[in-house]
Amino acid sequence: MKTVLVAGGAGYIGSHMVAHLVENGYRVIVADNLSTGHRDAVKDVPLYVGDIRDGAFLDRIFSENSIDGVINFAACSLVGESVKKPLKYYANNVMGSVSMLDAMRRHGIGYIVFSSTAATYGEPEKQPIEEQDRTDPTNPYGATKLAIEGMLKWCEKAYGIRYAALRYFNAAGAAPEKGIGEDHAPETHLIPIVLAAALGKRSHIGIFGQDYPTPDGTCIRDYIHVKDLARAHLLALLHLEKTGESGIFNLGSGTGYSVKEIVETARRITGRPIPEKIEPRRPGDPSVLIAANKKAAEVLGFTPQLGLDAIIADAWAWHSSHPEGFGDRV
Ligand code: UFG
Repeated sequence: MKTVLVAGGAGYIGSHMVAHLVENGYRVIVADNLSTGHRDAVKDVPLYVGDIRDGAFLDRIFSENSIDGVINFAACSLVGESVKKPLKYYANNVMGSVSMLDAMRRHGIGYIVFSSTAATYGEPEKQPIEEQDRTDPTNPYGATKLAIEGMLKWCEKAYGIRYAALRYFNAAGAAPEKGIGEDHAPETHLIPIVLAAALGKRSHIGIFGQDYPTPDGTCIRDYIHVKDLARAHLLALLHLEKTGESGIFNLGSGTGYSVKEIVETARRITGRPIPEKIEPRRPGDPSVLIAANKKAAEVLGFTPQLGLDAIIADAWAWHSSHPEGFGDRV
């Protein structure tokens, strides 16, 4: 494995992937339509600006570069938006993957690592959630990712394309030493919003519900550092190359933190007050999501190394040094 195509590489998780690959000596090509990604997040590698749904665009990339494997982050990823605009999610996510797999088939590319999500499980029946547990997404975002997992299985049988579908739990953190971090507009994720409140860019953090069946009444999630995620993707790609064994893997720490614990940790790490207000529940939020992460450890040799303090400290270093993110909003 020498050259890797990272689709969606200018986005949040994608850009950390690119940095990790570069650091480990790989040649990286990025494809991104820059609809949510940032040119400045991938300054040091070739960037093809275009949409992966455009087969001619992918043909050009695969013809001009000798690509050994693909990591596909290119997708729409807002749960709330997906409920309001399901067709946008099917058109972008499912059609994007159809187009990518078809181009891989045409060009004889054998390996893909695909960004899936814990949203494929929906409301889980038990914790921690294992890969073979029931998948029953409660929003179109999760449904499109599950549909693509199905497609990957059939494409492996038909075309021999090996895949790893990685179901992320809550991606967070940044790589401030590399000048990259989380910059979404609108921002919906808990940790960047808490840190915006610490910076005084928001008046407070609204806590969505304090009446969940958890010890402090707020939702529990499994946060994983984006640098750990990047490491897991490379291990998955190398695993495919070495063994040819496709699979689906949870990526999580195996530990849950409540919303209140996140806010408290952010207060400690930033030294800022961070006012909070209890607000109504956000529709569709499961009370607890925690990954069983044994399969990734046993098969891929992946265990997360960075805990919650490192996640929040890195995110804080990025947000406090880049209060306007990449500063490329028009
Ligand atoms: N939350 C708040 N206030 C906020 C924002 C979030 O209380 O202002 C709470 C949410 O209710 C939730 C927790 O913080 O309990 C985490 O919320 P995020 O929006 O940061 O993340 P989610 O767990 O909702 O979503 C994540 C990924 C999705 C993925 C989903 C799987 O971001 O891509 O997990 O369920 F689909």
